[in-house]
Amino acid sequence: MNNLIIAVDGYSSTGKSTFAKLIASKLGLIFLDSGAIYRAITLYALEHGLILSDGEIIKEKLKVSLEHVEVCFKINSESGKSETFLNGNNVELRIRLLDVSSNVSVISTIDFVRDYVDEILREYGVRGGVVADGRDIGTVVFPHAQLKIFMTADAKIRAQRRVDELLGRGEKADFDEIYNNVIERDYIDSHRDIAPLRKAEDAIELDNSYMTIEDQMVWLDHILKERFPDQVL
Ligand code: DC
Repeated sequence: MNNLIIAVDGYSSTGKSTFAKLIASKLGLIFLDSGAIYRAITLYALEHGLILSDGEIIKEKLKVSLEHVEVCFKINSESGKSETFLNGNNVELRIRLLDVSSNVSVISTIDFVRDYVDEILREYGVRGGVVADGRDIGTVVFPHAQLKIFMTADAKIRAQRRVDELLGRGEKADFDEIYNNVIERDYIDSHRDIAPLRKAEDAIELDNSYMTIEDQMVWLDHILKERFPDQVL
């Protein structure tokens, strides 16, 4: 089973990364955070003046620049967690800041950026043994994944989770503003021309509106036993 590929797609703030990371550590697989690669490219573009102050992207330059962009994941030996590196620098925390978050959606709609990210993901996937989370993993990147999970949750509950997360970090959070942002991101992710967010036909839907992460791991155990009855997982 060490060549297993598991795809975890779904709406924003459904806890995809948290769940995918736990699946990876439970099954001894590599966790691939596809959103982090889009975020690292966005950071590169911001740092090299390829995104203007009005949000316009200098696409021709970005296309040429991708040759100089190397994104990879490395395990932090102290925490055991996978972290994102851009051209040799650890950018795991930097790519979560607001300037990257507010430009990444547009960067992720560009066709050559998507091709570039897909290539990185597929290189990791050649040997299998990965859990990847994103928006198009089960539909575009790994259509042959042996297990596809599509995560969803009530938009108000997702907004409240983000509010709690921000407040927990001592930051400000306005529920209405965050709720509107959740709705807007759902719309952008599902309606873009290239690789829109949609549930693959063979994906299993997980609505975790009223589930804890422990509940989700129990759910996963059932699915694994059902899907792979002859394997010790
Ligand atoms: O999951 P995230 O918030 O880190 O993703 C960052 C952005 O990248 C988000 O706007 C959606 C986009 N994305 C995508 O288009 N396709 C993926 N497979 C993963 C993320």
